[in-house]
Order: sequence, then structure tokens, then C-alpha cells
Amino acid sequence: MTEVLLDWRDSDRTETVSVPDGETILDAAAAADIGLPFGCRTGACGTCTARLLSGDVVHHRPPRALKDRHLADGYVLLCIAEPRTDAHLAVGATVQAELVPNPWK
Ligand code: FES
Repeated sequence: MTEVLLDWRDSDRTETVSVPDGETILDAAAAADIGLPFGCRTGACGTCTARLLSGDVVHHRPPRALKDRHLADGYVLLCIAEPRTDAHLAVGATVQAELVPNPWK
């Protein structure tokens, strides 16, 4: 069991989620009634993107929605992410906006 601090960068909200071994952060958050955006749940769409600020998180399958440079910058996909240590993650719309520049702007 690890403790994951979720930090909404676009507001003052924070939540701490207890993640059982072998469970993803997205599933543990849902079990705690904390709503996070998701789509495919397989690491393909990028809807669940967060950014690791501290701690150790691994993907249990290839994170297809992230390029190598995103991984190097600490982006993680919560639907396939399992924490190996207590962790601190930035979440919210601004995190995803950093990842995918809006082509309409
Ligand atoms: S929900 Fe699609 S990548 Fe996580």
C-alpha cells in the first residue's frame, strides 16, 4: 500500500489516495470516490495524464499515449500507473494542456 497525493494545479484541491499493491492510481482514486478523467483505460488516449512531482511510479503496460520526451519529463498515465513508493502527482486540465498544445490556438 502506498499513499499518493493528487494535486490539482488549476485549483487549491488536493486529495490523498491509498493505493493497494498491484492496483492502478486511477482505480484506487475511483474506489475512494475521487473522479479523474479517463477514456481508454489502456494507455492509448492520454486522457488520464498526470505529472510525477516526486516518488516512483511504473506503467504496467506500454504507455502508448506518451512519447519518450513526455516520459523523460515525468508524465504518467494514471490508468496504467502503479506507484512503487509514496508519490506526489500534479493532475487537472492544465497538466494535459501542457502535454498536447491546442492546435486551435
Ligand atoms: S485512459 Fe486512456 S491513456 Fe489512460
